[in-house]
Amino acid sequence: VPSTFTYKIADLSLAEAGRHQLRLAENEMPGLMALRTEFGETKPLLGARIAGSLHMTVQTAVLIETLVALGAQVRWASCNIFSTQDDAAAAIAVGPTGTTDAPAGVPVFAWKGETLEDYWWCTAQIFDWSAEAASAGASWTGPNMILDDGGDATMLVHKGREFELAGAVPADAAGDSHEYGVILAALRKSLAESSDRWTLVAADLMGVTEETTTGVHRLYELAASNELLFPAINVNDSVTKSKFDNKYGIRHSLPDGLNRATDVLIGGKVVFVAGYGDVGKGAAEALRGQGARVIVSEIDPINALQAAMDGFQVARLESVVEQVDIFVSGTGNFNVIGVDHMLRMKHLSIVANVGHFDNEIDMATLESLPGAVKVQIKPQVDEWRLPSGRSVLILSEGRLMNLGNATGHPSFVMSNSFTNQVLAQIELYVSPEKYPVGVYVLPKLLDEKVARLHLDALGVELTVLTPEQSAYIGVPAEGPYKVDHYRY
Ligand code: NAI
Repeated sequence: VPSTFTYKIADLSLAEAGRHQLRLAENEMPGLMALRTEFGETKPLLGARIAGSLHMTVQTAVLIETLVALGAQVRWASCNIFSTQDDAAAAIAVGPTGTTDAPAGVPVFAWKGETLEDYWWCTAQIFDWSAEAASAGASWTGPNMILDDGGDATMLVHKGREFELAGAVPADAAGDSHEYGVILAALRKSLAESSDRWTLVAADLMGVTEETTTGVHRLYELAASNELLFPAINVNDSVTKSKFDNKYGIRHSLPDGLNRATDVLIGGKVVFVAGYGDVGKGAAEALRGQGARVIVSEIDPINALQAAMDGFQVARLESVVEQVDIFVSGTGNFNVIGVDHMLRMKHLSIVANVGHFDNEIDMATLESLPGAVKVQIKPQVDEWRLPSGRSVLILSEGRLMNLGNATGHPSFVMSNSFTNQVLAQIELYVSPEKYPVGVYVLPKLLDEKVARLHLDALGVELTVLTPEQSAYIGVPAEGPYKVDHYRY
């Protein structure tokens, strides 16, 4: 451990509690543990310097220690100001062999309840490898890999480099979030200190593996405009990620968040779910399971038809807003629930977002609405008294409430997602020649491997193709079993 080992977390004394959580999680994450067994000796990630920006939870801690077991060096930040579990962050800083007096883990910069300024400071820390470089006597100063969730770390590098090449942050720079001003301020400061910091960082990067729908969307936009600087693997669109984490994960963590935040009985309530993609499907199913009467909204006729055939009423928010008790947004779009809607809502309606960014709910307009008063009920639960004379309860200030009000998806489903992440890191790091700059998904055989690694734990007995059956349907007995465009 270099003497310059740094980290910034809430409370190191939570490390033991965090370590207990990690041990239990390891038992529920068979995919990650199998990768430790398979690659622990050969260490394919030796030499990889991974800058990680992903919710600093217990499950992520098991991911981080898996990357380390495979040879990587890691620096970590959370990708949301409320999603860090402080005990997990402490366990990661202390490490499996360190003590609170002599932490020997991974440099982690994350705590629950960061300000936006803290958030971008933490994100910048995962790119500062000067301590590691000094202890290795190396000439590099940054990471060579990014592991991202939502694309903020990737955006920081792209925007930082763009502004350095331009020589300044343009006064009219604008981005896809109302928080963009905070990022620009951070980059102005960075530019005043160095004219080529992000240019150098970008030059060393071999690739990024991206966790979520929203981050993947940003990557395809960068690729389409020829601005993408390094190859990317879209982890989200592994079947064993989006069809599991986004759906079954939300099915668990959305009601968990609602319960911890408000403890209102969901049965009998009218719940509105915006978006019937993978996240919306999990949300609607969970709430119906609790006995809620669920109304779905969609812009896509295919998803709208799916929702209808699954038995849900499909309506526009405007048509039903007065009837609804709980609003859930999971679209990845912005301004889905606006202040005009809020002014029409029932007294003490609950407004919850599980899409990646807080602008899904128009928080910016709410915060500047004359006469609106915010009363904190408890951390991450705010009553907003509105000029309508009624209040709404906003969870996690409009940010991912399953992580802000609860602890996110459980370990078993995250093991699927993170096994994809580790395989994607190995692909980009070990076989760069296979991935010119562009956005890729993992080969189907690896996707199937991720699922395979999770079957035993659930007592699943898989049927094996006979040679005759294999020849008859033209599918190899060992896979891949489906064509790439199969939809599951
Ligand atoms: P998806 O693309 O499968 O589904 C989104 C759906 O929203 C689409 O069907 C789209 O047609 C619909 N939509 C878009 N604009 C709409 C509007 N104005 N009104 C109604 N429907 C609209 O995406 P997925 O995977 O379901 O992800 C959704 C969001 O959730 C993303 O931001 C993603 O990053 C995030 N996410 C959050 C997780 C969490 O733990 N909270 C986990 C996984 C993803």
